[in-house]
Amino acid sequence: MVLRSQIAGTGSFLPERIVTNDDMSKIVDTSDQWIQERTGIQSRRFVGPTDTTSSMGIAAAKNALEAAEMPAEDIDLIVCATTTPDLTFPATATIIQAELGIHSGAAFDVQAVCSGFVYALATADNFVKAGQANNVLVIGSESFSKILDFTDRSTCVLFGDGAGAVVLKATETPGEKSDQGIFSTHIYSDGRYRHNLYVDGGVSTDQRTGYVKMNGQEVFRHAVENMSRAVQTALDTNGFHIDEVNWFVPHQANRRILTAVSRRLKLPHERVISTVDHHANTSAASIPLALDESVRAGKIKSGDLLALEAMGGGFTWGSAIVRM
Ligand code: UT7
Repeated sequence: MVLRSQIAGTGSFLPERIVTNDDMSKIVDTSDQWIQERTGIQSRRFVGPTDTTSSMGIAAAKNALEAAEMPAEDIDLIVCATTTPDLTFPATATIIQAELGIHSGAAFDVQAVCSGFVYALATADNFVKAGQANNVLVIGSESFSKILDFTDRSTCVLFGDGAGAVVLKATETPGEKSDQGIFSTHIYSDGRYRHNLYVDGGVSTDQRTGYVKMNGQEVFRHAVENMSRAVQTALDTNGFHIDEVNWFVPHQANRRILTAVSRRLKLPHERVISTVDHHANTSAASIPLALDESVRAGKIKSGDLLALEAMGGGFTWGSAIVRM
């Protein structure tokens, strides 16, 4: 028998405020045509005055617990991926823990920017495999609009806000290809590339929050290469062929990146989950948001094999193979 983390439920939350490309063109010198052609984005959600990274994470977590039919008190670990925490400390995960009425176990944040959800999933899965957690909430939540420079058209049109969550449950499985649960996670980073995507402020430098700076073309190039390789490694590790993957659930940064990666992997576009048109890039929230939307739409079903991948600042990147 093999101990696996099974996805018992998914959930998500989107702030109410919808911001279209035409809305963005009133703020910076851009156009709906440019944004759609270069990125596939049509609209994004931005937080309102009462939304915070924790409030969105709580809503997504409640949703996921309901889907899993699991009471909050059964959760013994919360891992929250975010690059836009409510406060410098404590971890946003501890705020979520308290608001869910959980007073035991552990809660902490993971910071890997757009790769955050894959990093958090890998962390949670390893806690489960080590026998240190049984029921885990893995959350990706971002108020990314708070770190956007609304005078920089090359970045501010690309991102959005929101949250997604999954409940993982430790389960003994027969150890076969048909098992449900996480088969593998692979995470990587190479800090030599950190200057291509970063925020120009921080506690120990200038005590400002700072704004996103990005060398878009360089990020694009590495994203396609790194994510394709990470998915291929994940498939090879588990002896799966790309044809066995029912759904590719990539980080939603740019439709052109999704297309380029799926082409390299020889995966038909019908099996690619794409929500970038209405979510934009929600950083650590993008994969669980896309996952939950597809589960609730009846697209992703129990028994489907998923390939997840992400790439973000650092650079960080990674992949996961999961059967629902
Ligand atoms: O989540 C992980 C992190 N992020 C990513 O994965 C993003 C990766 N990069 C990308 O998605 C793309 O590189 C971008 C969407 C950011 C940019 O697309 P691009 O095709 O690489 O455009 P570019 O940066 O080469 O810019 C082309 C032109 C430039 O004008 P000139 O120099 O050719 O006259 C830019 O100034 O487009 C201009 N431009 C814009 N025009 C209208 C840049 N941003 C805008 C804009 N509206 N918002």
